Amino acid sequence: MNVAFIGLGIMGSRMAANLLKNGVNLTVYNRSSEPAEALRAQGAKVASSANEAVAEADVVFSMLSTPEVVRYVFLEDGGALSKMKRGAIWADCTTVNPSFSQEALAAAQKHGIRFADAPVAGTKPHAENAELVFFVGADESLLSTINPYLEYMGKKTIRIGQTGQGASFKMLVNIMLAQSMIIFSEAILLGEKMGIDKDFLLNTIPNLVVSAPFTKFKAEMVRQDAYDVQFPLEWMQKDLHLAAVTAYEHQQPLYLANMAKELFAAASKQGMSRLDFAAIHRYLEQQ
Ligand SMILES: NC(=O)c1ccc[n+]([C@@H]2O[C@H](COP(=O)([O-])OP(=O)(O)OC[C@H]3O[C@@H](n4cnc5c(N)ncnc54)[C@H](OP(=O)(O)O)[C@@H]3O)[C@@H](O)[C@H]2O)c1
Repeated sequence: MNVAFIGLGIMGSRMAANLLKNGVNLTVYNRSSEPAEALRAQGAKVASSANEAVAEADVVFSMLSTPEVVRYVFLEDGGALSKMKRGAIWADCTTVNPSFSQEALAAAQKHGIRFADAPVAGTKPHAENAELVFFVGADESLLSTINPYLEYMGKKTIRIGQTGQGASFKMLVNIMLAQSMIIFSEAILLGEKMGIDKDFLLNTIPNLVVSAPFTKFKAEMVRQDAYDVQFPLEWMQKDLHLAAVTAYEHQQPLYLANMAKELFAAASKQGMSRLDFAAIHRYLEQQ
């Protein structure tokens, strides 16, 4: 099978490297050339456009930034979908909104392409160590074709349901992630104001049953006030925006996630967009 991977950012570069480690015949494309060149040294063929990368592929993975970018690369007239072989599979791992996944499915079907949404849980180290969890929206037969590749890149695949439901579930995970980080930060900041030792707070709060377990991995960033990017703050803002759009489509109020969205928007405006999303702590501390 020929496999293509489009989008070699923080996540995509590591996911593609794991495909190569497992001997997959892989063609890669990235808008800026450096990440693709790094993978050439590991055995990848490097294409000069997304259209060229997908032309011979049986399975195409994409890990781009936003739905707008996925639309631009794949769906527009003359875009990558129009260059894929009929019957090939496109698995989009980008975090997008479920409505966009439906739009991608409809466009793929017009070109005779089979489509799955396959967003991931996990961040940079999980991508590096093939420990991602895939939330897949697709029928069973499509999933069984791509699952060997998902297993090279992750530790678990969960089929949520039909197309769009992988994206739906991922959205739930991220609205909880965003709000939990804010809750953690507020507790630390108030604790400090009340005179409790910061190290004690950072060592103790993540281990309480009321805390989100991932805060253990963010405590060190907060302690050092160093937010080297794993999950960019700008993509958390994007995910909260997409959740707000989705909630509107369903006429479902989303009070606190919308408030979180505005906090991440403000932090982004303060120049924190390419820091890790845990930098929301620095933003709250400065208020
Ligand atoms: N990082 C995480 O922890 C994490 C975890 C789970 C899910 N996600 C999701 O996974 C996706 C990728 O995240 P990431 O952290 O890998 O992001 P990233 O490092 O910012 O990478 C974004 C990718 O999109 C490409 N891109 C952006 N604009 C483009 C355009 N106009 N045309 C073509 N390509 C374009 C970038 O190319 P260039 O290299 O040329 O800029 C890069 O390959 C996002 O949807 C994010 O929400 C991220």
